[in-house]
Amino acid sequence: MTIRVLDAGDAAAYQRLRLLALQDSPTAFSASYEEEVGRSLDDVAARIAPAPDGSIRMLGAFHGQALAGFVALIHPQRAKLRHGAEIAGMFVAPAQRRRGLGRALLGAAIDQARALDGVRQLKLGVNATNTAARVLYESAGFLPYGLEPDALYVGGQFFGQAHYLLRLNQA
Ligand SMILES: CC(C)(COP(=O)(O)OP(=O)(O)OC[C@H]1O[C@@H](n2cnc3c(N)ncnc32)[C@H](O)[C@@H]1OP(=O)(O)O)[C@@H](O)C(=O)NCCC(=O)NCCS
Repeated sequence: MTIRVLDAGDAAAYQRLRLLALQDSPTAFSASYEEEVGRSLDDVAARIAPAPDGSIRMLGAFHGQALAGFVALIHPQRAKLRHGAEIAGMFVAPAQRRRGLGRALLGAAIDQARALDGVRQLKLGVNATNTAARVLYESAGFLPYGLEPDALYVGGQFFGQAHYLLRLNQA
């Protein structure tokens, strides 16, 4: 397994896996398959390429040459917010789960956040019913700090969102 920052050349592989993610795990993402299935490769390439201002990058986990998982690391650039970062949209292909890819992706995102100048904390939100992800985040040291009721509406059902924070300067 290797982990690296994705770039525009990964657009086709990313889009395949992203659409699989939205179909496989609709309650784990705020975006829907219908919203993203029509995206052009140019659009996808622009979205996954690291932002020149450092505000977002996408990390990919590869099994051999194949993209098997991803997570976004977001770093707000505004002066009052840039001491924090966020991870979002983590996914590992169903066939590759429980082999450590998710933990490795999360670890890489944490390491990269730690390396960002002045970043003190990393936050994320997760569907409260998502036990697999919550166990993973908690095992990496994320602490829950709140629950937003009815944050997500999927398939006629409301889901709460659990909010987590990892204080990098104390970990
Ligand atoms: C959550 C997810 C990314 C985990 O990926 P993964 O590659 O299977 O994770 P790992 O193999 O690194 O597992 C790390 C730890 O997480 C926990 N974990 C993972 N899957 C679990 C499950 N189904 N049930 C309980 N704990 C689980 C375990 O503690 C595991 O360690 P262990 O295998 O030593 O017991 C993956 O299940 C996934 O993509 N789910 C669908 C999308 C999603 O929920 N994304 C998160 C959005 S916030």
